[in-house]
Amino acid sequence: MIELSLDDFLALSESEKLPFLKDYGIFYAQQFSRQDLDDYNILADRCRTLFKSRDGAQFMSGLLSNRFALNFFVQPSSRTFLSFSAAQAILGMKRMSLRDIKISSMSKGESLADSIRTFLSYVDLVVMRHHGEDAAVLAFWIAMKSHRRLEVNGTNRPIPIISGGSGTKQHPTQSLLDIYTLSKSFEEIGGIDGKKIMLVGDLKRGRTVRSLSYLMKNYRDVTLLFAAPPQYQMEEDILVFLDENNISYHMLNSIEEGIGDADAIYMTRIQDEWDDQVTDRHPEAHKDFIFRRAYLNKMKSTACLLHPLPKRDEIEVEVDYADDPRVVYWRQERNGMWMRVALIAKLFGCDQKILT
Ligand code: NCD
Repeated sequence: MIELSLDDFLALSESEKLPFLKDYGIFYAQQFSRQDLDDYNILADRCRTLFKSRDGAQFMSGLLSNRFALNFFVQPSSRTFLSFSAAQAILGMKRMSLRDIKISSMSKGESLADSIRTFLSYVDLVVMRHHGEDAAVLAFWIAMKSHRRLEVNGTNRPIPIISGGSGTKQHPTQSLLDIYTLSKSFEEIGGIDGKKIMLVGDLKRGRTVRSLSYLMKNYRDVTLLFAAPPQYQMEEDILVFLDENNISYHMLNSIEEGIGDADAIYMTRIQDEWDDQVTDRHPEAHKDFIFRRAYLNKMKSTACLLHPLPKRDEIEVEVDYADDPRVVYWRQERNGMWMRVALIAKLFGCDQKILT
């Protein structure tokens, strides 16, 4: 149970909320330890291999066939929505989706809290993307207060909530699939420890780069290079976290400054949906923060190029078709589905069945 009122709970900082949230869903990147990340990578690999055989796929589709999932995505999404939906199908879950507030009772004035309480009457998992940065933790509080419980390996638990992106602050499952992708790219060169990772673009409002920065606490001697125009530079709260956790970082004024040095380059688009005035025309990426075809020649031979996608003009189209194995963002997308299979399997306690 949770004794705090909703307002008191929401007033806590992310780190103060963590002890309540852990194990009941996925909310913040900070909730994961190195062991968790290593375990998820192994589980995702195992799911991937198992699904290649018909017997393996059939076994997996029986694991959660008595469970219902709701994908409640009221902000635009292609990859996160589809990969969660595919992951649930792989595990045999029955799936429902709600993607537009205008056709839900929220348009009649129902509160988010009441809507969530309603969802919890019908489903056993809620995956949600919402513009409110506290929406997923609010759903957690409601799940704790609701009477429905799931039996998972002999324990009774509230209905799990997974954040598929909350406001500009966090995108924890994206950061887990990014870690999975980085770990695979660095398999032959000692993993993520000791690497230099350059994050490029809108770091201020990019929830993916914020969540990924938090996860760096789990790796030794990582250096983050923040390449962004001043108005899009990384927010102070992340810099404080990095300082507290002795993670080094440097601010760069262009991609060129770090291209020869970086082991990974993580591109992002300008998150103009958060601009004060949203127009039909998307702003162009600043010329010093566009990944150009020519940069492939300047990148280390062992480096990799990531992007959470969707992308616009921040990567030259020629890069997509350069047929360079270091360009991994399309594989990163596929990795996301396997990581989400692993996350759901673990939440529902069927990880050991998959591993053995
Ligand atoms: C990201 C997001 O929604 O934050 N997309 C995704 O989930 N892969 C990145 C973005 O929209 O730029």
